Amino acid sequence: MKSSFSFVFLLILVLQLILASAHNGKYERATYHDNYEGAAQNDQNYDDQDQKQEKGPAKYDQNYKQEREQPQNDQNYEQEDRDEQDDHAPSLDIPTLLDSLSSDDLLSFGHYSKSCPKAESIINKHVTKFVKEDRTLAPSLLRLHFHDCAVYGCDGSILLNHKGSERTAEASKSLRGFEVIDAIKAEIEEECPRTVSCADILTAASRDATFLLGGPYWDVPYGRTDGKVSIDRDADLVPMGRENITTLIEFYQSKGLNVLDLVILSGAHTIGRATCGSVQHRLYNNYAGIGRPDESLDYGYANFLTRKCRWASEYVDLDARTPQAFDNVYYKNLQGNLGLLTTDQSLYSDPRTSPIVDALADGPSDFFEHQFAVSMTKLGNILVPTVHDGGEIRTKCYSVNSNN
Ligand code: HEM
Repeated sequence: MKSSFSFVFLLILVLQLILASAHNGKYERATYHDNYEGAAQNDQNYDDQDQKQEKGPAKYDQNYKQEREQPQNDQNYEQEDRDEQDDHAPSLDIPTLLDSLSSDDLLSFGHYSKSCPKAESIINKHVTKFVKEDRTLAPSLLRLHFHDCAVYGCDGSILLNHKGSERTAEASKSLRGFEVIDAIKAEIEEECPRTVSCADILTAASRDATFLLGGPYWDVPYGRTDGKVSIDRDADLVPMGRENITTLIEFYQSKGLNVLDLVILSGAHTIGRATCGSVQHRLYNNYAGIGRPDESLDYGYANFLTRKCRWASEYVDLDARTPQAFDNVYYKNLQGNLGLLTTDQSLYSDPRTSPIVDALADGPSDFFEHQFAVSMTKLGNILVPTVHDGGEIRTKCYSVNSNN
């Protein structure tokens, strides 16, 4: 048993090294999954947890109000990821700009070292202050960064708040943390005007939030630009928790991420909460028309959720057992049928992803945390060169410069 685990564990390490060297931090396409193992929980524990949550100091604000003031830009800026094909072999094809750009060329660790040396400390100061007042903002920042990078790269498009923008879409209604980014931007603009992009601020803020939650720290390369286009229907491209594994793998691949990244990044659900609307379809005898709850849910957990989730607007922890800790218990939960979202639990039922879940669940939590930093770096490096080149440094993160 132990030796088979060690083998899987080593296999994954080798796989990651091969992938890392093959892609060298550029846009990759790959597949990923999350898993969890079934540790039956007793119903009473969930009740206790439930009460603690309600008594706890941290509260989710309900400020999901969206402003829709600016005219929608209906331009379709969907891009082919042509730059993913690293086409250095001799050929008669004339290289285009898209062929030659990679995040390695566009981003660097010293990007603001002369132009805005205080940028990182300003970001960290604000994230720390906001999270101290409301710890639930930390996971929300992490999710916001994912939703930014998942649509045409990390370009701050999720932050734009005009009529018909991604942020105003139904799919974005539970995104939070915008006020943190606005506060950071305001101070950075005073310190070094028109220098630091909102996309960079969001990337660094999500790293700082992860660290504040007890997760890993990693260096963020900078130099992203802010996109000028944000369209509400594109928010539907981001997985919402009911997709199957093939869809998730293909989605991640389209961003240059692989199956390992899928499983590792899903580990972000070790912290934070979901609205019950994301899980009700698994409950109340609703599931897939079978007249009973989803059978891949632990029985006691299903009972807990049934009571907890009468209203779609209620919140429930993504990690049933250690919701406050940034650890690998998320994967152990999957092994015990305690995955909250359909997409979480599916990671453990699909043979392409379940061995990775086992390795992460059975290995040391440090292994997960290290790999999380690696995959987060890859997530933050997703750039769409044409969007990047057409971008700007916004003076306000919620609005393109031409509207300011
Ligand atoms: C497999 C792809 C993913 C799916 C299907 C997915 C789905 C979801 C859903 C449905 C929610 C709850 C939304 C709600 O009901 O309000 C959620 C929350 C969250 N997601 Fe994901 N997610 C995915 C990947 C990621 C990634 C890559 C990250 C970060 C790296 C992430 C971080 C989070 C966090 C931290 C929360 C909690 C947010 C909060 O507490 O405010 N997710 N996700």
